[in-house]
Amino acid sequence: MTNDSLTVIDNRTGATYDLPISDGTINAMELRQIKVDAGDFGLMSYDPSYLNTASCRSTITYIDGNKGILRYRGYPIEQLAERSTFLEVAYLILYGELPNQSQLDQWVYDITHHTMVHENVRTLLDGFRYDAHPMGVLISTIAALSTFYPEARNVNDHVSVELQTRRLLSKIPTIAAYAYRHAMGLPYVYPDNDLSYCGNFLGMMFKMTEQKYRPNPILERALDVLFILHADHEQNCSTSTMRMVGSSLPDPYVSVAAAAAALYGPRHGGANEAVVRMLSEIGDVKNVPEFIASVKRGERRLMGFGHRVYKNFDPRGVIIKQTAHDVFEVTGRNPLLDIALEMERIALEDDYFVSRKLYPNVDFYSGIIYEALGLPTTMFTVMFAIPRTVGWIAQWREMLLDGDQKIARPRQIYLGADERDYVDMDSRS
Ligand code: CMC
Repeated sequence: MTNDSLTVIDNRTGATYDLPISDGTINAMELRQIKVDAGDFGLMSYDPSYLNTASCRSTITYIDGNKGILRYRGYPIEQLAERSTFLEVAYLILYGELPNQSQLDQWVYDITHHTMVHENVRTLLDGFRYDAHPMGVLISTIAALSTFYPEARNVNDHVSVELQTRRLLSKIPTIAAYAYRHAMGLPYVYPDNDLSYCGNFLGMMFKMTEQKYRPNPILERALDVLFILHADHEQNCSTSTMRMVGSSLPDPYVSVAAAAAALYGPRHGGANEAVVRMLSEIGDVKNVPEFIASVKRGERRLMGFGHRVYKNFDPRGVIIKQTAHDVFEVTGRNPLLDIALEMERIALEDDYFVSRKLYPNVDFYSGIIYEALGLPTTMFTVMFAIPRTVGWIAQWREMLLDGDQKIARPRQIYLGADERDYVDMDSRS
């Protein structure tokens, strides 16, 4: 018996088992040898919502939820947000190292020159109702890209994987902006290769009749920082969905569409939209105490608070608060900020939130920033999906090369009826 093992005594049989411990985990398959008799299936672990299950080994993103640490490939999020750009971070997340100058130049060129979408995508977009939620439009249109690039199904072809990676990162901002323009009844704006990733996105969103769109550099940088903060977050709900769907080896477009669908819900990427709705509903700083009281009565959740992993503070929340102030210098102060600050102040002093380790997460302030940028609330989750695409793709690529991975297929504990005979209609009660 080594020290790196777990000794288990099965009190049903008195048998003792030594389960190896590696990287702070036991392999769940080791439990299967623990049986009452030869006919027994073997022990399983029960972990609904995967609270304590590592589903993969990964080298991409490190989070220490108790200490509020987030690193991409070892680099602290604070340093990346201050000194890097989104595209550089995207390269880092995908390829494991910061690019040198010529690698970065080529990468930026590649991403910039794949931003156009097939004209049929525009026709497709025209089929949506005027009030279609942009997330529904985004999810459907990403899935539709699958039909434009049938070679993408060859996920073992390294060259194809590289090409689809570039296409996805480049085209999602275009589709997102088109979804917005469609909702507004505005003509679509073609990408401008002279602009940065974020500058071009702002142009495709907001260009009107001017010959050349020139983004405000402070807003362009703020968006870049927001994109860096949202780029990856290890095995969250949408990323796990990307890996789960990707494990059956479809093309990456449908997997990214599935991941985006997982992001859509209010407990995940939909929270930023829910935060602004909540703040608007509260309406005034004086109504904050009553709202907090209703949360404590269990009638509702304080959206933008709490996180499955961060139990101290969300480091992204700290950076984003500063970004909010930078943006408001340009756009003017969003009145919802005062309500948000008051909620944060009260909640951080209140035992209900303190004892449950509930702190503002990244989405508590991102929605207020997006609103200040002139975006409708329905676009907020789309703004999360654009940068998270790089994380989804990096995790998917890692999964494809991981010899431990097979098609994802959890087990269940069956609690339904035992075998019984079919009952004819006239004999049923
Ligand atoms: N407001 C009020 N109470 C809360 C909240 C909240 N936002 N979040 C958790 N709680 C309470 C919950 O009621 C429970 O209390 P009790 O022990 O008395 O039953 C306790 O805290 C633990 O909650 P949980 O649901 O077991 O925690 P979880 O880890 O499953 O949930 C969460 C994590 C993010 C889904 C949840 O905190 C939440 O719903 N937050 C609001 C939605 C939100 O802001 N989501 C964005 C997450 S960050 C962006 C992203 O990566 O998606």
